[in-house]
Amino acid sequence: MLKPPLLKELSQIVGQANVFTDAEELVVYSYDATRVSSLPSAVVRPSSAQEVSDILRLANREQIPVVPRGAGTGMSGGSVPLQGGLVLSFERMNRILEIDEANRMAVVEPGVITGDLQRAVEARGLFYPPDPASQQFCTLGGNIAECAGGLRAVKYGVTRDYVLGLEVVLPTGEIIRTGSRTLKNVAGYDLTRLIVGSEGTLGVVTKIVLRLLSLPESVRTLAAFFPDVGSAAHAITAILSGKVVPRALELIDEGSLAAAGNYLKQDIAGGARAMVLAEVDGASQTTEREIAVVEQACREAGANSVTRAEEQADRDRLWKIRRSISPALYTIKPRKRSEDIVVPPARIPDILAQIQVIAKRHGLTIVNFGHAGDGNIHVNILLEDEEQSAAKLAEQEILAAVLGMQGSISGEHGIGFSKADYLPMETGAAALEAMKKIKRALDPNNILNPGKIFINAE
Ligand code: MLT
Ligand code: ZN
Repeated sequence: MLKPPLLKELSQIVGQANVFTDAEELVVYSYDATRVSSLPSAVVRPSSAQEVSDILRLANREQIPVVPRGAGTGMSGGSVPLQGGLVLSFERMNRILEIDEANRMAVVEPGVITGDLQRAVEARGLFYPPDPASQQFCTLGGNIAECAGGLRAVKYGVTRDYVLGLEVVLPTGEIIRTGSRTLKNVAGYDLTRLIVGSEGTLGVVTKIVLRLLSLPESVRTLAAFFPDVGSAAHAITAILSGKVVPRALELIDEGSLAAAGNYLKQDIAGGARAMVLAEVDGASQTTEREIAVVEQACREAGANSVTRAEEQADRDRLWKIRRSISPALYTIKPRKRSEDIVVPPARIPDILAQIQVIAKRHGLTIVNFGHAGDGNIHVNILLEDEEQSAAKLAEQEILAAVLGMQGSISGEHGIGFSKADYLPMETGAAALEAMKKIKRALDPNNILNPGKIFINAE
């Protein structure tokens, strides 16, 4: 509970209508896609960098935790107010401030929904490639906090590859600008890249300059169905070792297909045990040839059938299936541990085989889907309450296997609190200490999103 004089001060900063303390309101801002919930003391909705600065100065003075929040779609707990305090919600800072066609840039506030920006720039023949599965709900501020990846990373990279500059409020209240409106910039340390992916622990982003591309002239999509996940994985590596770079190359295993089928009430697989979804883009003649190359590789790897999505409606149907998998998995068991592993793409068949062995050893249901084209697989351990300790052991073994292949424990969801135990396994002690020194230098009172990334930032 915050004392009435503090609530009054907050109201003076953002207006009384933008400070929430009612229990029903607080619940709405207490959880993310991990389904872990922790109530804040208050929710504050700023409308400018100056208001954010005033809030952070107050929070520093009073030593109150502050947790920035976009749409709460994160997968690692980044926006969950674990230690209570203030949630800083960006729903009022949701304007697309500028689309600069001549320089192919957009300037936005952090509360803009990713899909809204995509549509706005596409209407002008431009393209914002990062495409998280939750793009219709998630915000660009949240994408920046976690360095979101998504479906098109295999060809176009991830959020950090499109951020040219930021306006950031430091935990101690200073408003800084990083980067510039240029494609090149080596003036001092790259603070933009430091902030992107820092999970709301180093600063609060209040304005974003994004790089845009030209909208590709043509897009071709196909779904290939396989008798087993091994041959689907080999199709992925065969495609990647050829000359075509698809813009999306997704693998969906039997369990994920079944879950999405339950959820959408349709038979997706028709008896197949794995699906590869591939999409190419570019000039019309090129995409026609490239999709044929991808189809050929799928058939040679053992696909029983291949369907091309000729119309936009067919494409939308396929991507709806893919985007529904994450929530659909809750129709199989009441809980899931969502992993976000990434390995060098050629190791996809090996890691999937190892995961199968680990699942069998622990008697667990593990399903896999995701961005196999860039090596990023969402491994989901589906469980009942009594399977928690077996799941934890299996998780440790999977992450150790990933690191043994020189992979990473998180490709795009971030560490949050859900992977904080495992971060030292990947970084080692000295790199972890270097990260903590940065945190302590920028946030000496540890008020900004405490308990995330590091179990203890001291
Ligand atoms: C996805 O690719 O669907 C998202 O990253 C969500 C998830 O992993 O569950
Ligand atoms: Zn994903």
